[in-house]
Amino acid sequence: MPKARSNGNGNGQPHLKQRGKPIQGYGKLVRYPLALDEKARSKMCETLNQVLADTITLRDMYKKHHWQVSGPTFYSLHLLYDEHAKEQTALIDDLAERVQILGGVSIAMAHDVAEMTRIEPPPRDREDVPTQISRLLEAHELVLELAREGAERASELGDEGSNDVLVSDIIRTNEMQVWFLSEHLVEGPVVHTGEAAKTGGGARPERRAAR
Ligand SMILES: [Fe+2]
Repeated sequence: MPKARSNGNGNGQPHLKQRGKPIQGYGKLVRYPLALDEKARSKMCETLNQVLADTITLRDMYKKHHWQVSGPTFYSLHLLYDEHAKEQTALIDDLAERVQILGGVSIAMAHDVAEMTRIEPPPRDREDVPTQISRLLEAHELVLELAREGAERASELGDEGSNDVLVSDIIRTNEMQVWFLSEHLVEGPVVHTGEAAKTGGGARPERRAAR
């Protein structure tokens, strides 16, 4: 019987542990036919990458708080934090892909994000609810401040696509999340009003004086 002949040189073994040279350096741009000059693309990639690093950090902080939250509002905050983390994850994708669309290289890995972010790092320890919310609100404000500046700059540079991402996605979502969080720091009666406490029980409606 004739021996089966191999029709290739391979033996089915994948080529493992490979490292090629980077195909594009961080901070360098490739050119796509976008009718947008290099200065505009470069400036916007820089801004978008900063918003991205801060947004990744904010999303991670939401997950930390989601896991570590405590106290009587545990259930609602546990769910709210996770909802906001999901929305921030969607924003991360919008920002990173916007950088790539402009021909840049998006920041991606945790060690690079940690170097770049301007958000104060929380400790590994578990913190109380007011501290958790305060940290989140401060992070949101940092993101919003840069997103507003970036949106204005994008318009000046003729990059309306980046302006749209920053205004319609980043600013609108962060503003909404700030509202939901801030209301958790408002002190107010839960079971009875202050008046009820003074009268030592159920507050009675005032009666009209008899004629
Ligand atoms: Fe979870």
